[in-house]
Amino acid sequence: MSKPKVILTRKWPAEAEAKAKELFDVVLNEDDHKMSVEELKQAMQTADAICPTVSDFQINDDIFSAENRKCKIVSNFGVGFNNIDTEAAKKAGVVVTNTPEVLTDCTADIAMGLLLCVARRIGEGERLVRNKEWDGWCPTHMLATKVTGKKLGFIGFGRIAQAVAQKAHFGFGMEISFFDPYPPSTEVIQKYSAKQMDSVEAVLKDSDFVTLHCPGGGSNTNLLNKERLGMMKKSAFLINTARGDVVDEPALVQALKDGVIAGAGLDVFAKEPTVTEDLLTMENVVLLPHLGSATTETRVAMGLRALSNVKAFFDGNEPGDRVA
Ligand code: DGY
Repeated sequence: MSKPKVILTRKWPAEAEAKAKELFDVVLNEDDHKMSVEELKQAMQTADAICPTVSDFQINDDIFSAENRKCKIVSNFGVGFNNIDTEAAKKAGVVVTNTPEVLTDCTADIAMGLLLCVARRIGEGERLVRNKEWDGWCPTHMLATKVTGKKLGFIGFGRIAQAVAQKAHFGFGMEISFFDPYPPSTEVIQKYSAKQMDSVEAVLKDSDFVTLHCPGGGSNTNLLNKERLGMMKKSAFLINTARGDVVDEPALVQALKDGVIAGAGLDVFAKEPTVTEDLLTMENVVLLPHLGSATTETRVAMGLRALSNVKAFFDGNEPGDRVA
């Protein structure tokens, strides 16, 4: 029996591509270019499965309705799947899967990294040293904000959030609070001695650091708008490793300029890879190029997980990570 044809929309780590070659008749994206909408439509017509990523054009109704579509499963390389219109997928009868769990720890590490960097002015200090502008230690130089023992509020308290709570609570003695419309079990809540809040606003008002862990898109777009940013403490920091569109970026820029909040650590942006110009010149922000899951171990594991979903599907089984 011939192997299913699978198209990877971007370049993957070598180990994951090797596995893809072993399992499927795979088409790689050797030069790692961003596929055009036309290429994505063609992929739909020529492959049995495609494995897209967050940086592709959205696989929307237009792409799902490509004439003579052959593709039966869209296996996302990523846990977030706002790059796929799942309603359009359901309408077209195409299965959609994602890659949860394997990137939990590394994404949580980046959230903690941003939190520490922005609170302790690590990016700023590093720039000072590199620019040869440091003229020595003194008692008032670059005073920052202490992290240990502070209040950390979560918007969304799923797997990645809990991994952040693990590090923040047990490593840094932080007090945990959260809002999640689908809260975890009592056991999980008790593990972190977490305070369950009844609204996003309650978390914002109470926290020294706010970290976002909700999906992007839909009603979460611009969740952190001018009004809600205004509810945060003036001394508070915002951390975003979720999706850029959850924050109203112009409102955040204004809040940072006006001292409405103290700073922000951002791994994701509303219009990646474009970053609002004003952010680039601000010292009270730390900016990363969507690095949450960017370790070799994790990116290989994401590839293998995406492939195992495709394999399960063509073996006639329900893929483990089906989201539509
Ligand atoms: C994820 O897995 O959601 C990462 O943000 C990359 O897509």
